[in-house]
Amino acid sequence: MSSATEETLVVVKPDGVRRGYVGEILSRFERKGFTIRQLRMITMTKAQAEKFYDVHRSKPFFNELVSFISSGPVVGIVLVGRDAVATARRMVGATKAWESEAGTIRGDLSLGLTDNAVHASDSTASFQHETKVLGF
Ligand code: CMP
Repeated sequence: MSSATEETLVVVKPDGVRRGYVGEILSRFERKGFTIRQLRMITMTKAQAEKFYDVHRSKPFFNELVSFISSGPVVGIVLVGRDAVATARRMVGATKAWESEAGTIRGDLSLGLTDNAVHASDSTASFQHETKVLGF
């Protein structure tokens, strides 16, 4: 069965950039067969970060999340490919990086939670919201 071609957004978080994993993360998506449609390094303002993570506004970790994601440059990557949202999420792995499967990005590269190396949109609606906030 074929699944539709769609777009998703992957963001290499400040810890991933600081630790030098931009190339490694990009390479995994390229090897999988995704096309990179857009790519940009951005340092989010606090206001941008609050909008980006708007769905988490009521969570106890919201302030920590906002201050972390705006603590340094991130790399936003718009990917195109088959079933891109779900496929990229599978490649990224579980949110709690210490629990994520080996072979996933978080499983191989991170032990963090807020600092879990990478973010990927969880739906097409999130993709549209997040890319708009980041100015893609
Ligand atoms: P991300 O995929 O960017 O989506 C929301 C982020 O919130 C998630 O990755 C984690 O980095 C972060 N997060 C989720 N739960 C917690 C928590 N309990 N404490 C701190 N950060 C969290």
